[in-house]
Amino acid sequence: MIKIAVLVSGSGSNLQALIDANLSGQIVGVISNKPDAYALQRAQQAGIQTAVIEHKQYPSRELFDDVMHQQLLDWDVDLVVLAGFMRILSAKFVHAWEGKMLNIHPSLLPHYKGMHTHQRVLNTGDTLHGCTVHYVTAELDAGQALAQGVLQVNIHDDAESLANRVHVLEHLIYPQVVEWICNGTIQHTAQGVMYRQQLIQQPVQFCNF
Ligand code: GRF
Repeated sequence: MIKIAVLVSGSGSNLQALIDANLSGQIVGVISNKPDAYALQRAQQAGIQTAVIEHKQYPSRELFDDVMHQQLLDWDVDLVVLAGFMRILSAKFVHAWEGKMLNIHPSLLPHYKGMHTHQRVLNTGDTLHGCTVHYVTAELDAGQALAQGVLQVNIHDDAESLANRVHVLEHLIYPQVVEWICNGTIQHTAQGVMYRQQLIQQPVQFCNF
């Protein structure tokens, strides 16, 4: 059984979706860099062990990442799931977990990497928006995309309504992708990322029109 760690900084609604999904893997621990993250309470309520590793207590990003890395090794983790974890990770850490670490980003990557995606979509006047689950590589929001949730931007949408609508999609696609990794439907191989035994060309799309 695949052992999963979820890294969080905030509310943890994606963590909750993963908990509720009854994955065939096991969430063995949750790490937060913020002691007051509500996600920690969600983990505790589900009986999942937690670790608070405050980045402020470490003089460098690398030292902070080393402590997280050791915690993940101590838990014997196979898969690291970033779920609203608001720290940039060092290249060494990312390299150590390459092919074993996922992120969810609130845009249709490769569009709108970085922050404030909903407002940027509105400013541009795009009609489609959504979220992307991808492997984490050293380049920000640039690893292989595995799945996307797609929605149509409505005329009445503002950044808040878009964030809420995208969140609904996140809670659908993140547990699905994690389950696909747990049950071998997605495999990270030396040849590339396989989905149902074929090299993945495009992320699997979930449309909510
Ligand atoms: C989500 O919008 C996700 O796309 C981004 O951070 C947010 C986390 O929300 N990476 P939550 O903490 O899971 O509620």
